[in-house]
Amino acid sequence: MIVLVVGGAGYIGSHAVRGLVQAGHDVWVLDNLSQGHAASVPAGRLVRGELADRGALETALRDHKVDAVMHFAAFASVPESVADPAKYYQNNLVGTLNLLDAMRATGVGRIVFSSTAAVYGVPEVVPIPEDAPKQPINPYGFTKLAMEHALADYARAYGLGYAVLRYFNACGASSDATIGEDHTPETHLIPIILQVALGQRESLSVFGTDYPTPDGTCIRDYIHVEDLADAHIRVLDRIEPGRGLTYNVGTGVGASVREVVDAARRVTGHPIPVVAHPRRAGDPPSLVASSQAIRRDLEWSPRYNAIEEIVASAWKWHKSHPHGYGTP
Ligand code: UFG
Repeated sequence: MIVLVVGGAGYIGSHAVRGLVQAGHDVWVLDNLSQGHAASVPAGRLVRGELADRGALETALRDHKVDAVMHFAAFASVPESVADPAKYYQNNLVGTLNLLDAMRATGVGRIVFSSTAAVYGVPEVVPIPEDAPKQPINPYGFTKLAMEHALADYARAYGLGYAVLRYFNACGASSDATIGEDHTPETHLIPIILQVALGQRESLSVFGTDYPTPDGTCIRDYIHVEDLADAHIRVLDRIEPGRGLTYNVGTGVGASVREVVDAARRVTGHPIPVVAHPRRAGDPPSLVASSQAIRRDLEWSPRYNAIEEIVASAWKWHKSHPHGYGTP
């Protein structure tokens, strides 16, 4: 298939691009490089463009005779979405609608959409099944849920075929440590912990130690970025016109902030000092995926299950790229 990966220069997108190329697809990347890195894209495959630029989207879809789109070009920081919701609604909602309409105009009928565990809000049941109530508690989660509804409506009315993948906490780096996580500013737990191990930060601020969890810190389901990429490649072949598929992508096992810190201490040999802070706005206490559906339907299973292996994968990248893609 000819696949346009929108946001393919970003963290998760670049790993999906690599997986698609390895699976034999013909891949193009459209990215504005606001967060992405040209160095992570295969040579000659990058089209610079904005989600807001309908003409650029249509040109890319038409010129490259695209069969399917994967869409990673969203902002994905929960705290930032609380502080600046306009940025999130504009890009994640308006920008994505623009992409869907460009696809309609050019007759491209297949999309894999990156959604999130944040659509569930504070779940009543953990591990969370796909049909659990959707009650986001932050603007980021609302933007993604709104797009899930739009996709279902576009499928019914216009015959769009789509897959929604609800990611839990993406982490780790490519197994050869040539592409990995490089956000500015960094807000995610594992890279911040590893910046402490690299001596770039004094300590980790732990946001909330009074959650209703065994050690008082938040529990998340950390899913390796190559396992996420694999889910995209598997689901692409299953998309049918006018139909939607929705899967959680997580390991099904949670780790608390303290457990991640302990794993990082073992992996790096660094003491990683921590300082307790108040809770961060928009954080649910525990998010762990039920991944039964994707395991059953797509015969997908994560290759990385233990938090220590995941942290070790991220550590290999951060050690060899202490300043991310800017490392000389
Ligand atoms: N945390 C800290 N200190 C930090 C950074 C994070 O204690 O310096 C804590 C957070 O409070 C949270 C946990 O570590 O409890 C994980 O935080 P991240 O920022 O790494 O990730 P989030 O769970 O907030 O968000 C991520 C993605 C979202 C996605 C969500 C779904 O960024 O896109 O996972 O679980 F929606």
